Amino acid sequence: MDNRPIGVFDSGVGGLTAVRRMHEIMPNESIIYFGDTGRVPYGTRSAQTILHYTRQDVAFLRSFDIKAIVVACGTVSSVALNAVSKEQNIPMIGVVEPASLAAMEKTKNGRIGVIGTASTIKSGSYESFLHEHKPELKIFTKACPLFVPLVENGRVNKGDIVIETVVKEYLTELKEQDIDTLILGCTHFPLLKEVIADFMGENVELIDSGAAAADYAKRILTLSDNENAGTKYFVSDDPDSFKALSHIFLNGEIAENVGNVEIATY
Ligand code: DGL
Repeated sequence: MDNRPIGVFDSGVGGLTAVRRMHEIMPNESIIYFGDTGRVPYGTRSAQTILHYTRQDVAFLRSFDIKAIVVACGTVSSVALNAVSKEQNIPMIGVVEPASLAAMEKTKNGRIGVIGTASTIKSGSYESFLHEHKPELKIFTKACPLFVPLVENGRVNKGDIVIETVVKEYLTELKEQDIDTLILGCTHFPLLKEVIADFMGENVELIDSGAAAADYAKRILTLSDNENAGTKYFVSDDPDSFKALSHIFLNGEIAENVGNVEIATY
């Protein structure tokens, strides 16, 4: 048993999709969550800036005695994880590998779609991993940058004309490629599952990358037996706005205090 907490971070609230799953499948794990809400989005920034922010996020989490880090951000997992994980002596679990493995298991026709932020898609991270393991797969990618601010503004429900229009605009070309599996390669996107599923149709399996990372963490980490485990939340911008938004990600209010971190000092 290892009762040290697991650190989890994202550029903002999206990583809570991983935390939600961790609460469901690993209730005895203590979690330290950091959301860089003061600097979100990462997905439109340069690789150099994402790397710099990632090192600071990791340094903050390592100020606690944690046993592992779940990088609950598609952008960081795609752009900075390789470099930063080499600098750390604890496991760092990103979303690319777990989500890709889940997609490889699900697909029947070998045609997989990947959606993510502009940086994630530009990095080619999902294609590299998938093709390394199964060169015969056909991968179709699409950057969907507008999904992030729409999710952050709560525009996630079926019947919302704004999100339905943007979903149609972004996903029509993937739908035409006859994919049977779609990786939601950004941790904000599982919030759009219902709208995306409705548009793509019932023959397309959606892969939640945050949940896949949580499942993977459960498989590879030495778990805890702490029955009083809890989650501590920290952000780099207004804790109250984070709390207000978090309920759509976590399916419930955060009861705990949310701390504020001066992340630029790490
Ligand atoms: N949660 C981030 C990701 O998974 C998206 C938000 C951002 O652009 O920072 O890529």
